[in-house]
Amino acid sequence: MSEFEKPPLDVLLSAPRGFCAGVDRAIQIVELALKKFGAPVYVRHEIVHNRYVVDSLRDKGAVFVEELDEIPDDGQPVVFSAHGVPKSVPEAARTRQMFFLDATCPLVSKVHKEAQIHFKRDREIVLIGHAGHPEVIGTMGQLPPGTVSLIETVADAAVFQPRDPTALAYLTQTTLSVDDTAAIVRVLMERFPAITAPHKEDICYATTNRQDAVKRIAASVDAMIVVGAPNSSNSQRLREVAEREGCPVSVLIQRASDIDWPALGAIRRVGVTAGASAPEVLVEEVIDAFAARYAVKVEVVQTAEETIAFNLPRELRPAAA
Ligand code: F3S
Repeated sequence: MSEFEKPPLDVLLSAPRGFCAGVDRAIQIVELALKKFGAPVYVRHEIVHNRYVVDSLRDKGAVFVEELDEIPDDGQPVVFSAHGVPKSVPEAARTRQMFFLDATCPLVSKVHKEAQIHFKRDREIVLIGHAGHPEVIGTMGQLPPGTVSLIETVADAAVFQPRDPTALAYLTQTTLSVDDTAAIVRVLMERFPAITAPHKEDICYATTNRQDAVKRIAASVDAMIVVGAPNSSNSQRLREVAEREGCPVSVLIQRASDIDWPALGAIRRVGVTAGASAPEVLVEEVIDAFAARYAVKVEVVQTAEETIAFNLPRELRPAAA
């Protein structure tokens, strides 16, 4: 098909999108550990939830495991993923005298610290989050089993029975839907007015900014493409946000090859965003795939500037320099 025969298509590129500072730091930690210590560098769990990132690091010498007991005693480093780990994991690593590097996002570590403070102050803790997500497992695992109660929905919040409503605090996963979380918090506040809230929101800047950016364009496009992994919480939330804002077709894809073209229908405007663990190269791949079928005009719709960067662990700073 010649360029002249291609149907026109406006691509609204949502910004901010893609890598956040925590993901960027976690990937750098693995790359710098490989540079400094050589392969293999073990990584407990997917360093971030993205197959492309994981495969690229595996090609460079990273070895991904789910548990520490899969790692031989060969003195090579092990990196803990950006989602955070229960306290038992570094404890086990210390017992085995393993050299570990913690790539937990500092904004997840902040939630861990809040949990510990509430515990010390004898407050019962409610965590708003998704059961089974590694971040939730890590946050709940900062304290003895049974200490933290998980609330996933408004319905959970409506029936939750604390031991003492005057000594209660809530925390949240960092990658939740801002609107769903606000609804759950509203129910908790109505039922337990004395509940202690986080000083600063636990939902992180990157999650909030990406959802805000999607909200700006979702109602004005015929379809929204979210680049991200199915096990990436913040990517799933972006797909849902677009759907709720009235976008007729909102899909989460890992690669351009996943696009179901007939399902998009007769589109004239499409929105594109990416979850916090999806690299920009995959967004470019999607735009190229549209450009192969349509006469594409790309417009960036930016709703926030991001300048946050996190420090690397001390052991890797010379390698970074
Ligand atoms: Fe951290 Fe938020 Fe990214 S918690 S890893 S900055 S999505």
